[in-house]
Amino acid sequence: MKNSFPGILKSSSYALQGSPTIEIRTFLKERKSKSLSSEVNDLKEGSKDRVFPVEKPDTVYVNSWGILFNCNCMNLLSTINDNTIDLVFTDPPFNLGKDYDTSKFHDRQDSEKYELWCHSWLKELIRVLRPGGSLTIYQWPKWFIELGAWLSKNPDIEYRSLISLKMKGGFPIKGRLHPSNYGILNYVKKWAKKEDKPTFNVVRYKSPICRHCGKEIRDYGGYREKFRKFEDKNGILWIQISDFWEDTRPARYDKSRKVQINELPVHIPERVILMASNPRDVVLDIFGGGGSTYHAAQMHRRYWIGCDIADTSTQATLSRFATIWGRQEADDLPRRVARCFKQEYVKYFRRKWSERSNSLINTVPLLRNGEKYLDPKLLSKSKVLKSHVQKKQRFLAKPDTSI
Ligand SMILES: C[S@@+](CC[C@H](N)C(=O)[O-])C[C@H]1O[C@@H](n2cnc3c(N)ncnc32)[C@H](O)[C@@H]1O
Repeated sequence: MKNSFPGILKSSSYALQGSPTIEIRTFLKERKSKSLSSEVNDLKEGSKDRVFPVEKPDTVYVNSWGILFNCNCMNLLSTINDNTIDLVFTDPPFNLGKDYDTSKFHDRQDSEKYELWCHSWLKELIRVLRPGGSLTIYQWPKWFIELGAWLSKNPDIEYRSLISLKMKGGFPIKGRLHPSNYGILNYVKKWAKKEDKPTFNVVRYKSPICRHCGKEIRDYGGYREKFRKFEDKNGILWIQISDFWEDTRPARYDKSRKVQINELPVHIPERVILMASNPRDVVLDIFGGGGSTYHAAQMHRRYWIGCDIADTSTQATLSRFATIWGRQEADDLPRRVARCFKQEYVKYFRRKWSERSNSLINTVPLLRNGEKYLDPKLLSKSKVLKSHVQKKQRFLAKPDTSI
């Protein structure tokens, strides 16, 4: 097969999310005739691995900071080298039956199958993370309990934190407590060498103020003076984030979009990126949606790699990038990003990219309320104070276009 890639994947990971290759279609047909329990058995750990060609993902966009694919995440992961990614932030579908405007996957399946599907990409994410790299997964309580219990048993990673986020605008469910919190599970890959120590930057946000009188809401118990060194030139105090974020809000969707993407506000991935990576690190998000992670990464000079299975999500990311950074593409992968990919994939990419006849980013509409995306100051709710960054960085990152 022209497009086949000799990767080895567990059948499990693949079969759940659909794929265009003939082998997989045949495989799916076989699966249809199986009972649910035998399907679940196939997915269970220790079941026989099935080897079949994995389709090489085709790139839809490259710029001097990142690369975007429109593909199944398992295809992308199979092209990435072990121990190369500095930070994973990802926000998978929650199995709540949301309509993502694609027939390539369904966001409602048997719970056990969903959980086992999550295990398959989580295992891959752990493999590609560098020692000391961070794994951060956005989820809702039901799944962070289950997935957290499973992750904590993995000897290659260790638990760091569970960040709770207040989710405004949730709707009540009859007979249960009103759900209003989501979470980010944070693990790090174990490391042996001192230089691989996990990155942890103190991230700060503006001390909340009363919107009526403009005074600080928080009581500093007589110690307010001590915090003066964390004031900016306008006298605004920036305080350290904790593992409870109550200032997060749902993203305001662009009304001009035909289909609404289930998109996070940029300041959620932004905080994680500032906390667990440094400029010029590589951030991976395998469930890109409307591209909030890639946006936050590029805004803060991190390289990024991403994909989404749905065409509408991919187009939404491209619209976002076209609006903010223009339609210019790069001729080649940034060198730092190229190092994350298997050599044979880099060769394949270069051939395909140089042969391409059209550029998808030229075909997408700009976002109508684009001005809110253009000014990082409007978006950014968090920062790492300069003096702290300078200790960690020797230079300010510049885009790396050479290869
Ligand atoms: C909750 S959304 C992510 C939203 C994103 N964090 C944002 O802020 O825009 C989950 C995304 O995962 C994508 N998806 C689902 N299954 C996938 C798969 N197997 N491979 C890649 N993407 C997938 C969906 O199309 C959807 O856009």
